[in-house]
Amino acid sequence: MCGIVGYIGKKQAAPILLDGLSKLEYRGYDSAGMAVFDGENIKIEKTPGRLKVLEETTHGGELMPGMIGIGHTRWATHGVPSTENAHPHFNASRSIAVVHNGIIENYIKLKEKMIKRGYKFVSDTDTEVLAHMLDYYYKGDPVEAIIKVMHRVEGSYALGIIFTDCPDDVFAVRKDSPLVIGKGEGENFIASDVPAILKYTRNVYYIQNEEIAKIGTDKIEFFNIDAEPIEKELHRVEWDMNAAEKGGYEFFMMKEMMEQPKVIRDTFTPHIKNNEIVFDELKDADIDFSKLTSLHIVACGSAYHAGFTGKYVIEKMARVPVYVDLASEFRYRNPILGEGDVVVLISQSGETADTKAAIGEAKAKGAKTIAIVNAKGSSMTREADYTIYTEAGPEISVATTKAYSAQLIILYMLAIKLAEEKGTLKEDEKKQLISDLLRLPEQVEMVLNNKERIQKFANRYIAAKDIFFIGRGIDYAIAIEGALKLKEISYIHAEAYAAGELKHGTISLIEENTLVNAVLTQEDLYDKTISNIREVKSRGAFVMAVTNLGHTKIEEVADYVVYIPETNKYFTNTLAIIPLQLFGYFVSAGKGYDVDHPRNLAKSVTVE
Ligand code: G6P
Repeated sequence: MCGIVGYIGKKQAAPILLDGLSKLEYRGYDSAGMAVFDGENIKIEKTPGRLKVLEETTHGGELMPGMIGIGHTRWATHGVPSTENAHPHFNASRSIAVVHNGIIENYIKLKEKMIKRGYKFVSDTDTEVLAHMLDYYYKGDPVEAIIKVMHRVEGSYALGIIFTDCPDDVFAVRKDSPLVIGKGEGENFIASDVPAILKYTRNVYYIQNEEIAKIGTDKIEFFNIDAEPIEKELHRVEWDMNAAEKGGYEFFMMKEMMEQPKVIRDTFTPHIKNNEIVFDELKDADIDFSKLTSLHIVACGSAYHAGFTGKYVIEKMARVPVYVDLASEFRYRNPILGEGDVVVLISQSGETADTKAAIGEAKAKGAKTIAIVNAKGSSMTREADYTIYTEAGPEISVATTKAYSAQLIILYMLAIKLAEEKGTLKEDEKKQLISDLLRLPEQVEMVLNNKERIQKFANRYIAAKDIFFIGRGIDYAIAIEGALKLKEISYIHAEAYAAGELKHGTISLIEENTLVNAVLTQEDLYDKTISNIREVKSRGAFVMAVTNLGHTKIEEVADYVVYIPETNKYFTNTLAIIPLQLFGYFVSAGKGYDVDHPRNLAKSVTVE
């Protein structure tokens, strides 16, 4: 969602803001803008559309001289994408400019109040109210004005603010929306996410909810909501800049898919010691897994799909009932939870508003929360009782691939751990599972090496209108993620169905040549799914099957077969999802779409 970048230093701010915003494009946006302060005036440029338009209208920033600035990419929530609604927003005299990520929930009430006080609004946004309120409460001390506004607004915000009265500082504050402060040499930065500033510095402060930063060229001060100075720890970002660059690939999504073997290895390595699964993060946890009578998994999007796979794997392996919920549903349905319950939250970004709220809901009911998160230092890692990291590195493409694969790995290992505690796994079975886990990276690589073949097949479906995905059990969980990958980046209507459910309605949509992608990796369900394939084929469908190597019987029914290497029945998702990710990618790229930035979508959904 919205991206924020801010700069103060001895260089021209605008080109740095444009560069930083380009690194945040992955978050999803529909307009962009900048405010640059030259010591006397604040110049503001904003425009709907891609960042390129802003680059052109400002000649790469040259037309906006000044060494202090804030920039923004907007993902519309209140008001259409337009010049007026784009950020930065400002007060009437243009002495204050503000960029915002989040939602001010009580903005209508506040707006009415400000209108009564004589303020005129030029946009439909919730953000503009902040600019006028800052104007109203500013009496010479920006921190005091910011705090007065914080006391009055409800909702979520990460803000970058400049005041013409304070030519030596940029101000930043956050509540429930991400923001980091970068500390450079004679220059400092603010950003929604580390990639925006990694080119300039690796030293960052993570500001917490309701903390305020006053950022000068050489000095950064932090305050709490009572205006008391606070000390913050400086963190060093260890990952490489290359991790946030395309590295020769046309799109991040391809680069990230190709990184999956490494990501899988990096994710399991810290948890396998002497042929045992270990979770040091849970060592001192107040959870007795051997007594667990159920487990809850809560997430959104692909992370939810990973959790859905987790349900099948954990239930089969550890014989513990698993309830999987969409976070946006879970948080409002008064879930039945209490002490002794464990809720696992899964998130790549660690910032998804609904998943974050679900942590609060679970904790309030006395349950213990374990977050499986990719982004280091993100909100969920601070809010959950325990955090287990996936080691996918920064993921830029909106459509997740490597982070999803890493989530599966953690879930497999949790399943083994739980099964061990529950006594449902024999020692030799456990050894076999661990050795199968260790083989996954090279097997994923084998599937990836076959990508040209998937590309040729995908090219035939660029003009398709509807594509269906079917499977049973774990194969159904694979199918729902495969369908999501395709629809989100190719804009082709794609639906996943439990194969046995087709007859209850969906089969009426099958026409001559409709593509049905069938997933068959569970040996005990082969024949059942083959019957469903026959049903769609006799109504004209063209069937691509993803199945295990050696299951040649499939060739009697399917029109096109993709084989995956042999692994145990629990881990097949890791291999079978690869051809489906590639399929979605190649259809989108074949249509000439911007694969990494699908329309209307955001990487990190920080509003509910
Ligand atoms: C967005 C992204 C998805 C992601 C979902 C959950 O919709 O486009 O790829 O799966 O959010 O995000 P999270 O960061 O919580 O995993």
